[in-house]
Amino acid sequence: MDINKLLQSMSLREKVFQLIQISSDFIVKDKIESYNPSVDISISKEDVYLAGSFLGTSRSIESRKLIDEYLKMNPHKIPPLIFADVIHGFKTIFPIPLAFSFSFNPYLSLLVARISSLEASYSGIHGTYSPMIDVTKDPRWGRVMETFGEDSYVISKFSREMIKGYEKNNLKEKDAILSCLKHYIGYGKPEGGRDYNTSDMSHVTLYNEYLVPYINSIKLSPSLVMTSFNTIDRIPLTINKFLVKDLLQKKLKYKGVIVTDYNAISETITHGNAESNLEASLKAFEAGIDIDMASGSYSLLEEHVLSGKIKLSDLDERVLKILKLKDDLGLFENPYKNNNSLLENDKTILEKHFKIALKVSLESIVLLKNEEKTLPLKQNAKISLLGMYQKSLDFNGAWSYKQDINDNISLYDTISKFTNNIYTLDDELFNTNLIDIDKIKESDYVVLTLGERRSETGEAKSKTNISLKKEQIEYFDYLREINENIIVIIYAGRPLDLSYISKYAKAILLTMFLGSTHSTSTSMTLFGKNNPSGKLTISFPRNVGQIPLSYNSLNTGRPAFDIINKEYVSNYQDEFNSPLYPFTFGLSYTNFIITNISLDNNVISKNKSINIKVSVLNSGTFVGKETIFIFLSHGSSLISQPTLKLIKFEKKNIKVGERKDFIFKITREDLFYYNILFKKVYENKEYVLNIGSNINSLEKYKIKGENIS
Ligand code: BGC
Repeated sequence: MDINKLLQSMSLREKVFQLIQISSDFIVKDKIESYNPSVDISISKEDVYLAGSFLGTSRSIESRKLIDEYLKMNPHKIPPLIFADVIHGFKTIFPIPLAFSFSFNPYLSLLVARISSLEASYSGIHGTYSPMIDVTKDPRWGRVMETFGEDSYVISKFSREMIKGYEKNNLKEKDAILSCLKHYIGYGKPEGGRDYNTSDMSHVTLYNEYLVPYINSIKLSPSLVMTSFNTIDRIPLTINKFLVKDLLQKKLKYKGVIVTDYNAISETITHGNAESNLEASLKAFEAGIDIDMASGSYSLLEEHVLSGKIKLSDLDERVLKILKLKDDLGLFENPYKNNNSLLENDKTILEKHFKIALKVSLESIVLLKNEEKTLPLKQNAKISLLGMYQKSLDFNGAWSYKQDINDNISLYDTISKFTNNIYTLDDELFNTNLIDIDKIKESDYVVLTLGERRSETGEAKSKTNISLKKEQIEYFDYLREINENIIVIIYAGRPLDLSYISKYAKAILLTMFLGSTHSTSTSMTLFGKNNPSGKLTISFPRNVGQIPLSYNSLNTGRPAFDIINKEYVSNYQDEFNSPLYPFTFGLSYTNFIITNISLDNNVISKNKSINIKVSVLNSGTFVGKETIFIFLSHGSSLISQPTLKLIKFEKKNIKVGERKDFIFKITREDLFYYNILFKKVYENKEYVLNIGSNINSLEKYKIKGENIS
C-alpha cells in the first residue's frame, strides 16, 4: 500500500482519528451511550468509524463483525487495528509473569509469547499490551504479579524474548502480533505501593534501573511503548516531554508508536497539569504521544491544527506511523489477518499448548522450605488436602479473565493420580468445625493451600498488609496441633509475608498463580515427577515495614548486617534488614556443588574481556536444573553503586552424577553505569565479581578495569 498517497487523500478529521483508540464495544455492542468518553469531548457515531484502533475484542466473531461494519463506513477503507491485553496467555493461560520469571529461563517467555500471539491471532487480535517491564520492589502494589521482579537485567532478558515471540521475524507473518513495552516509566514505584500513585526518584536511579529494560528492549524495535499513569518530576508521563520526546525518542532513538494508558490524557487534568482536554491534548502531542487510548481528547487535535498550534506536517508524521503499522501487519491486503473461528475453538490445539504451558509452570515453582527432606512425597502417601484451593479452579491469575476456568483441573483431581489416600473437604473456607480430627491424625502429611484469591491481585489491588490472613494462620495452628507434618502450598499474586509459617511448616512450595496447568505441575512437584528449579526474582520481606526491599540497595554510610536494634547504624529496632527469602533463593530436591570456578585472567580493558568457567556437579539423587549468577560490586565510584548488581545468569539441566560447565564472558559493557547526565561512565579501578548459585553463598573474585574508559 502506498501510505503516503493514502495520507494525502485523507481529510483532517480522518487523520486525527487515526490517532484515537476506543473500545470495540462501540461497534461490537453498539454502545452509543458511551460515545462521549469525556465531558468536554463529543465523538459522533460517524467518528467511531474513523477511529484508528480498538481495544477489547476477545473472539473471532467479534473482531470480524467490527472489521466488516467498520470498513463499510470508513471513507478510505483503512483497516482498523485491534488490541487486547494478552499478558500471560490468551486461551492457554501461563503462569503470571512474576511466577514465570522465577524460572530464570527467558526462553520460556518466548514460548509464552509465541503461543499467546498464535491464539490471539485466531481471535482476530493484531496487538497486545505486553510485555510489562516495570521494575518493582513493592509487593503491596497489586500489579507486582505482572512484572518480572525487582532486577532490571532479569526484566530485560524476559522482555526481549517476549518481543521476539509476539512479533516473530516479520509482522507480516500471519500469527505475528504487535508488542508494546509498558508502562513508561516508573509505574512500579508508586508511593506507599498504592496503584496509580505518584512516583518519584532521582534521575540516576531512573537511568541505572528503571530505564534499563527499555534501553535493552528497544534495540529489538518493538512496535509500541505505552506511557504510564504516574508522574515523574511531578509531570504525568503522558505529557512528560523530557522523558518521552527528549529521552525515549531523541536520545534512545525509539522510532515506534507511543500510546497512552487508558484515558490518561484526560487524567492529566485531575493530576493538576492541564486545565482542559484541549490543553491536555496539545501537551500530549508535544510530548510525543501518537495514540490516545480511550480519552478521546485527541479529537481536539483538529482545532490545534486549524489554529496553527500544531503543524499539519507534524500531524501527518504521526498518522503515517499508524498507517505504517497497519501496512507492516499486512492489514491493507487482509484486515482479518489470522482470524479463524474454527482454529480458535480447536481443542486439539489447546491440548498441545497446555503441554507447553506445563513446561513453563513446572519451571516456575519455587521450593522455599524442605525440612528433613519432607518433599517429594511417596506415591500413595496418606494426605489430608485442605485450605482454600483443593477443589477450586480459579488460579489463572489476574489477566486471564477471557479464559474459562472450567478448562482447569483441581488440585484434588491431579493429586488423586498419585495417591488414593486423600482426605479432603469441599469447603474452602477455614472452618475448623468441619474437620475430621482422626483423619488428619492418621495422615502422613497435611497439604495445606494458603495465600490469596486471584481477585485480590492485579490492577488497582494494592494492599497495606501482605501477611497471610489471620484466619489462615489460626487454621494452620489448629491443624498443627493435630498433625505437625504440614506442607504449605502458596497461591499468590505478590510476595507475601510468610514469616510465621516459615518457622513451623515442614515444607513450603511457592506456586503463585500458574494458570491452566497449575494443579498438574504442583502435583508433579509434590510427588517428585518434577524437581523444583525456580528461584526468586523478587525479595520476600519478613515484614511489610521493610518495603521497598531489594537485593540491590545502596550501602549507606552506616550499613548493618543482620543486627537488630543497634544504635546509630542503618537497621530496625524490631526486625532484620534482610528479606525472609532473598532474590535468587530457591531449593531443589537434589544437591548441586560448585566444584570449580576459574577466570582466564583478571583484567578488563577496551578490547580485553574475562572468560569464566563455573563447574557444577549434581551430587544428589534427582536430575535437576541449576542456575549460576554473577553479581558485580564496584569499589569507590563517582556515584554510589548497589552493593551487588546482577550482570549474568545461566540455567542448565544436570543429570545425577553429571558435572556441567557454565561459561560466562565479562566485558567492559558489564562494568559501566550512567551518570546524572545519562552518560556512560567506565572507571579504571578494582571490581569484585561475586559468583554462586544464590545470593547467600557467593565467592568473590577481584578483577581490574584498565583502559576501559
Ligand atoms: C492498564 C494497562 C492496560 C490498559 C488497557 C490500563 O488500565 O494500566 O496496562 O494495557 O488498561 O486495558
